Amino acid sequence: FGSFRMYTTYKISNHPGGSYSLMFNDTMGFERSAGHGVHVEDIKLALKGHVKDGYKFNPKEPLTEGDFYNPSPTLDDRVHVLVSVFPADKSSEMTGEDVKKMREVRRAASEMRIPQLVLLTRIDEACPKVKENINNVYKSKCLKEHVDKCSSLLGIPLNCVFLVKNYHSETKVNDDIHALILVALRQMVSVGEDFLNDLQD
Ligand SMILES: *[C@@H]1O[C@H](CO)[C@@H](O)[C@H](O)[C@H]1NC(C)=O
Repeated sequence: FGSFRMYTTYKISNHPGGSYSLMFNDTMGFERSAGHGVHVEDIKLALKGHVKDGYKFNPKEPLTEGDFYNPSPTLDDRVHVLVSVFPADKSSEMTGEDVKKMREVRRAASEMRIPQLVLLTRIDEACPKVKENINNVYKSKCLKEHVDKCSSLLGIPLNCVFLVKNYHSETKVNDDIHALILVALRQMVSVGEDFLNDLQD
């Protein structure tokens, strides 16, 4: 997803007409320095469903009221899975501040019992062997180190970290790139279903 400042909804269309019941709501990133990037409180509000589509994040202060504030979110409005995106090739640029914010969001999500996954992106940019051949993902020591680092930085179990290669220069879809994305997507759907089922118990 982009680093847009706006809270943006993405639906996946399913022909003919209509779209899947899966929906992605994208926030602004943390932008690597204090006073910039999305406010942690806004992410917590979004988790609870208080933030409406199109809201322009203000790094200086969190949303409290107004047109983009939903005072009474339904279960549908709430987040069912928290997915944190972590670029593998940029992990050394992560500051203590970013990590602190990500951990804080994670803790808030845990308190709400929201399942959490991490997408480790740009894996090819982080590891030359993977760039050479995408099928080296599960063999690459370099990538394993990135996964371990990401898992311990964010305090998230290894089996919750998913590997993704971003499309950039490719002009056509590629099955190997797709396969990685689908593994992650399937897990998102599955833990999201578990979350909803547990609520109904
Ligand atoms: C995601 O976006 C949709 C459509 O704008 C909205 O109905 C839903 O409440 C949003 N979900 C969250 C968790 O903000």
